[in-house]
Amino acid sequence: MSRHPRLSAAAEALPASLFARLYERLARFQGDVIPLQIGDTYLPPAVRLPDLDLGIDRELYPYAPPQGWAPLVDRLVDKVRTRNQIPVTHDGVQVTCGATHALACAVGALLDPGEEIILLTPHWPLIRGIAQSRSVVPVEVPFTLPLLGGDDAAEVLRHVIRPQTAAIYLCTPNNPDGLVLDDHTLGVIAEVAQRHDLWVLADEAYEDYVYQGQHRSIASLPGMAERTVTVYSFSKSYAQAGLRVGYAVGPSQAMAAVRKMANHSVYNVPQAMQKAALGSLERGAPFLADARVRYQAARDRAHATVAAPALLPQGSTYLFLDLSAWCPEPDCAMGVLENIAEAGVLLAPGAPFGEVYGKWARLCFTAVDQARLDEGIGRINRVLDGLPRTE
Ligand SMILES: Cc1ncc(COP(=O)(O)O)c(C=O)c1O
Repeated sequence: MSRHPRLSAAAEALPASLFARLYERLARFQGDVIPLQIGDTYLPPAVRLPDLDLGIDRELYPYAPPQGWAPLVDRLVDKVRTRNQIPVTHDGVQVTCGATHALACAVGALLDPGEEIILLTPHWPLIRGIAQSRSVVPVEVPFTLPLLGGDDAAEVLRHVIRPQTAAIYLCTPNNPDGLVLDDHTLGVIAEVAQRHDLWVLADEAYEDYVYQGQHRSIASLPGMAERTVTVYSFSKSYAQAGLRVGYAVGPSQAMAAVRKMANHSVYNVPQAMQKAALGSLERGAPFLADARVRYQAARDRAHATVAAPALLPQGSTYLFLDLSAWCPEPDCAMGVLENIAEAGVLLAPGAPFGEVYGKWARLCFTAVDQARLDEGIGRINRVLDGLPRTE
């Protein structure tokens, strides 16, 4: 049987972007397009490349160590031990091309094809495709809404662990709804992981943006460091998304496997970018303090003014909007988002955050400055005002 031109099943399983339809409608708009769909910031980065001595000729062109640039790795060991209270050793750190690459390496290192990874939803959309690209089966478990409805995490998780379950992915503070997992909930997840002998993938990309509650790393709980790989990102913390620097930390043996995955996918992260990341760790405290105040103000204002209901996010940089009042059919939020795109505002459709979120949309309140955020929300509200409500 001829093989060419059939593509891999894993590639075929990856979902196509939903944005094409929105871009078509956006093309009809003349004027300032307000991109609230993307998880980014209007702030200039904590540290810029021209502010650094990059040693361009010596350091930019040769290969660099696959684990990461030694001064950065040393600093990360320190940061993770003191700040996150994770007892990591030097070989338990891997510098990656963003947290995206860290998670891809971790999934490849920890799970076999056909095994299941539980995604506590709503979840960061790319984790689903990362699993599928390795032929790992993503299993969505609605989490935030049951918890807010009064269910205990133990109740929610009780029925979803099966023999083929190998890992639980959690994100705190969560993208897209900003939920910060409290100590009780983290304790329950830890207990389930230990009882069923599962890996935990902890995505803490938004650890620096918490407005209520306190960020805690699940790997700092008793018995969890040896079964958890935790990922972080300079994209979110220090407004350096384009540099593509993140890192994974975990137990040495697992991290040796994560390192092999990183080695066989990108070999090394560009050293100049790692220098900029280290610069942020060393000099970024004033940036973080300022960004937190601005982001919290943007959160409060966006939450108070947007017409669609949303949970007040305890952390992260998003509002997750419930558009069901404007949606008679399942998944019809796309129609609403097309109308909003025609008004020159982009929002991220809810379905990729979880199957049950077809009537939701995500708004990033840090993507543009306050004036443009106000303008964008004003346009969203005018569109919603013009649509019939289902209730
Ligand atoms: C929850 C979460 N994890 C991971 C990432 C990936 O970040 P990076 O830019 O470091 O790859 C993102 C980016 O949006 C995110 O929101």
